[in-house]
Amino acid sequence: FEGAERYVPAGTDLDGLRRAVQDCRGCDLYENATQAVLGSGTAAARVVLVGEQPGDQEDRQGAPFVGPAGRLLDRALADAGIERGDAYVTNSVKHFRFQQSGPGKRRIHQTPDAAHISACRPWLTTELRIIDPEVIVVLGATAGKALLGPSFRVTKQRGQLIPRPPLDDESATQNGFYVPTIHPSAVLRADDRDAAFAGLVSDLKVAAQALH
Ligand code: URA
Ligand code: SF4
Repeated sequence: FEGAERYVPAGTDLDGLRRAVQDCRGCDLYENATQAVLGSGTAAARVVLVGEQPGDQEDRQGAPFVGPAGRLLDRALADAGIERGDAYVTNSVKHFRFQQSGPGKRRIHQTPDAAHISACRPWLTTELRIIDPEVIVVLGATAGKALLGPSFRVTKQRGQLIPRPPLDDESATQNGFYVPTIHPSAVLRADDRDAAFAGLVSDLKVAAQALH
């Protein structure tokens, strides 16, 4: 894929990005999705939470984490003491990847490939540059691959406070942390949901404590 780079306007704000992302043709995912979904929250957010990609509801409504995983994430943030107004939520990939099958033509989520993650990364790094958060919560494997590289493993790195080097061309004065954790959808799929939820909250508390 060509990648999103040439579709990202220079020197714009989050609203400018939100408009521009609708015209992105950086990979093939714009073709079947309803719309692109940028993050939501303010540029003053101290915590950014990065998920995978919009789901079915997010694709229809045009906002991240508004479906079942989003409701669970909202509860976990509240339990961890992170205020919604302090948090900006976004995704590694801005268009919904799915397969349509069955008689009802239900849209089945498909995990984005490394090529989609890499193509879409300029939108994410630009959001992060504008917001310049103290903590970036990495929700699951896709966000981990986007931000921490191909060797990232959630099970090994979750709940850790990882110093964050500057992103790409970001100035070297940047400091802050990554806190990886499981994706809220993994909690919904877990055999023991209560334990998985408690684990997510406990990792989010690490992020909350890192805020000064
Ligand atoms: N899962 C994600 O990773 N992001 C969303 O916005 C919704 C579900
Ligand atoms: Fe552009 Fe990302 Fe959508 Fe691909 S998924 S078309 S790179 S916004």
